[in-house]
Amino acid sequence: MSKPPQLLVGNWKMHGDLSANAAFVAELTAEVSGLACRAALCVPAVYLAQMQVLLSGSRIDLGAQDLSAHEAGAYTGEVSAQMLRDFSVRYCIVGHSERRLFHAESDATVAVKAQRALAVGITPIVCVGESLAEREAGQTEAVVKRQLAAVIQANGHCISEIVVAYEPVWAIGTGLTASPEQAQEVHAVLRSQLKAASSHADRVSVLYGGSMTAHNAAELLAQPDVDGGLIGGASLKAQDFLSLLKAASR
Ligand code: PGA
Repeated sequence: MSKPPQLLVGNWKMHGDLSANAAFVAELTAEVSGLACRAALCVPAVYLAQMQVLLSGSRIDLGAQDLSAHEAGAYTGEVSAQMLRDFSVRYCIVGHSERRLFHAESDATVAVKAQRALAVGITPIVCVGESLAEREAGQTEAVVKRQLAAVIQANGHCISEIVVAYEPVWAIGTGLTASPEQAQEVHAVLRSQLKAASSHADRVSVLYGGSMTAHNAAELLAQPDVDGGLIGGASLKAQDFLSLLKAASR
């Protein structure tokens, strides 16, 4: 099967404001029409309503950064999958390492969140990745497999509907990028784990994330099992994100 177009997803994290968001989208949409890759922006929940309007009719899909593991109820401050759906959210990041670290999200919680997203037709972007200590201890493969296994177990045959992002924790926001070989090695592990779980696993995009920029994107994206990128810092300026989209469209 030939590779589907690359999927590039910006993760704005806790950045943005109403006027900057509008300027960003205007700059981006002026240039994206001819690009061959798929693209999405995962924005803070409070800007979903604004971004739904700004991105409507464009080639850029709307994404969220997290969702509640609960369907509805007394969960102060949380946002449900159904609420995201109301704003035409297409993707939702689940299990980002910052949520695992700062909000103590377990593999089991991440798996339930992926389930909640799938139940309303939102594609979860399931993040997995090892810390530096785990890499140095030779545990990379075991860690990412354990993280993905929880999601596979909870989601059964729906697993072919997810997106996976391999994000080595030591590469996020640090300027250190996994080498194309290091990324490919882990992506191949994840791919075979997905294939063992579903005969439709070929359609799962496996993204790389961690200090991806226009300078290193081409080499990473050229790897056989790298299907796109999850981009933090380099998605905050329209021109930087555009350069990445262009690199992914070649
Ligand atoms: P980065 O972030 O591109 O700034 O390293 C990636 C991510 O955390 O998704």
